[in-house]
Amino acid sequence: MKTVLVTGGAGFIGSNFINHILSERDDWFIVNLDKLTYAGNLENLKGIEENKNYAFVKGDIINGELIDFLFTKYSFNYVINFAAESHVDRSILGSEVFFQSNVIGTNVLLEAARRFEVERFLQISTDEVYGSLGAEGLFTETTPIAPNSPYSSSKAAADLMALSFHHTYGLPVLVTRCSNNYGSYQFPEKLIPLMIINALNDKKLPIYGDGLNVRDWIYVIDHNRAVEKVLENGRIGEVYNIGAEQEMTNIQIVKLILKHLGKSEDLIEFVKDRLGHDRRYAIDAAKIKTELNWKPEFVFEEAIERTIDWYLQNKEWWERIISGEYAKYYAEQYLTR
Ligand code: NAD
Ligand code: DAU
Repeated sequence: MKTVLVTGGAGFIGSNFINHILSERDDWFIVNLDKLTYAGNLENLKGIEENKNYAFVKGDIINGELIDFLFTKYSFNYVINFAAESHVDRSILGSEVFFQSNVIGTNVLLEAARRFEVERFLQISTDEVYGSLGAEGLFTETTPIAPNSPYSSSKAAADLMALSFHHTYGLPVLVTRCSNNYGSYQFPEKLIPLMIINALNDKKLPIYGDGLNVRDWIYVIDHNRAVEKVLENGRIGEVYNIGAEQEMTNIQIVKLILKHLGKSEDLIEFVKDRLGHDRRYAIDAAKIKTELNWKPEFVFEEAIERTIDWYLQNKEWWERIISGEYAKYYAEQYLTR
């Protein structure tokens, strides 16, 4: 039995991860530590509160006292740090909380992991640490780090800090850098859920700039299977890119959503571009495929339909979000552009 600290487990990827692990195996005891920011939602974990292999703690990863208390109480074997402020647009509006949570918070966890001698520490990083690509080429694990937004620079700092703790102290660190995820429970500020929900509400779909920015999409379950593999079988001190070779322009994604929902392309509205908008991300995932025998299992066309259907079937989940305290930000940022 392994005791695993999962931070940020009430967010999009973390909650999918916990739901996935607890439905498939019973040899992990998971402690989910989450601050429950606007993006954290315990509804994502409905039904597992009663699982004997699960405990939830509301708290901030920058709270060193709490972290020490939890490490003492649970003697974690593994740590997976999903917790972060994750939205680029918000980091452009105000960066401080990004550096607090993503940088200082990661440092607090690394220090505790070192003192309590955890067996493995997985830092969930992102492909955005590599910056932006031109029309050609892919990010490999040796591509120089060149982040462009406050969000990606905070993630790059955390990523490099984790690797430095391996180099300096021998902390058993692993780092994953994944591309854009989609799937159930994604907060409706991100491209895919935002566009689905706006289309369902016959609101305009705001596409930044010319809509030709490219993202490399992966279904959240495929990402989480890769996380599980890297944590258990990855080589200590290594970085693993994760991606599903599914490059799409934003306009392609939006048109596909409109088609699936039977809505008119007249809903599309080109709006002012995001500041410093990265043009293209694309992942070379050869390393994780060859070393760890991982490959994506979901075909994009099916998984995106499954995702759209999830939002159709879980209207209450997102209606509560877009009408709650998020409503003001949502209206200002997206509906009045
Ligand atoms: P999310 O915003 O949906 O969830 C983040 C979670 O972290 C929330 O539950 C939030 O309450 C929690 N959190 C934030 N600050 C915290 C703090 N200080 N202490 C404790 N909990 C805190 O984000 P997501 O999309 O699920 O992303 C999860 C991780 O994966 C992030 O580290 C992100 O950088 C990384 N990532 C995301 C993507 C993507 O496409 N979404 C791709 C690659 C990597
Ligand atoms: O690449 C991994 C990253 O992917 C993660 O590290 C981040 O946490 C995650 O938020 C995501 O970042 P992006 O900025 O790529 O995702 P977002 O969904 O915000 O935007 C995707 C693309 O869509 C981007 O080119 C901006 C564009 N966009 C986004 C929104 C919200 C629009 O055109 N209109 C919109 O309203």
